[in-house]
Amino acid sequence: MENTIRSLQQEIIDFEISTPEDLEAFRIRYTVRKGLIANLFGQLKSVEPAEKPRIGQMLNQLKQTAETKSAEAAEKFASEVSGGKRKIDLTLPGRRYFTGSEHPVQKVLGEMKRIFSDMGFSIATGPELELDSYNFDMLNFPPDHPARDMQDTFFITREENGNDVLLRTHTSPVQIRVMLDREPPIRVICPGKVYRNEAISARSYCVFHQLEGLYIDKNVSFADLKATIYSFAKQMFGSDVKLRFRPSFFPFTEPSAEVDVTCYLCGGKGCRVCKKSGWLEIMGCGMVHPNVLRNCGIDPETWSGYAFGMGVDRTVLLRYKIDDIRLLFENDIRMLKQFPA
Ligand code: DAH
Repeated sequence: MENTIRSLQQEIIDFEISTPEDLEAFRIRYTVRKGLIANLFGQLKSVEPAEKPRIGQMLNQLKQTAETKSAEAAEKFASEVSGGKRKIDLTLPGRRYFTGSEHPVQKVLGEMKRIFSDMGFSIATGPELELDSYNFDMLNFPPDHPARDMQDTFFITREENGNDVLLRTHTSPVQIRVMLDREPPIRVICPGKVYRNEAISARSYCVFHQLEGLYIDKNVSFADLKATIYSFAKQMFGSDVKLRFRPSFFPFTEPSAEVDVTCYLCGGKGCRVCKKSGWLEIMGCGMVHPNVLRNCGIDPETWSGYAFGMGVDRTVLLRYKIDDIRLLFENDIRMLKQFPA
């Protein structure tokens, strides 16, 4: 017993405590309730009674040594931390925090909005859940007219009185809301999501983005429309872009046109994206139909205007060389991370 105590005493004196981890190991070995010292105290009862006081004193001494050493080390580490002397490895790489970024659709929409607001357009928005009458009737789609079939509609509720609720198939109903709400002159763009019940593929999805434009004033002509679109296209697609207006039909404009720009991937020579034609369609447009103005309480004898509506997503796909439109809607972090702020 005596020898054991002596060798333990020496061991404790020699134990090197240079880190908090060493201290913890020291504590566990010697001073905790089930440590070596406590164990020796347990053996005291089998020591001969005459020897007990002396051995007991030795044990107390041992315990004292261990406790003092442990307390001194603890104090040293505490003062190192509070004195700012904690060892920090300055060569370690810093921690990176993940920051959000702008979705590529919002980047392109943002650019479109900036170009039009520089030309004096303000921004108007409308609901994605829309009344049938705003989405179709007020825009001069006659009931049962086949033009309604151009857009496969998601109906939400079917009502007897024609006030069906649907997911808007285009941003044009926002034109109606703005005209009902404000007096001309009006100059707005209306960006937003639209929905169509179409077969889903890499090229088309059930939801996509449009940007609508509406300008109502006195003596607005088709030449004003062309100049505006041309100025927009030069800023959006490059200063040497060429435009082509093809006659078309929309119930809410007369005359109507579809606008193509020279393919900005091949410069108009013809490639896979423009299907060898050299042209990319960017929007529909036209002079606002007098019936639409009348439906909104605006006198077509005094006021005239133009409107246009363009798809946003295709420009996003082409600009960032994304080959599947579904990637724009899945919010896959692996894709979004590639568009840092
Ligand atoms: N709303 C049409 C569509 O979704 C696009 C459009 C065409 C909008 C001509 C217009 C316009 O404002 O004048 O296909």
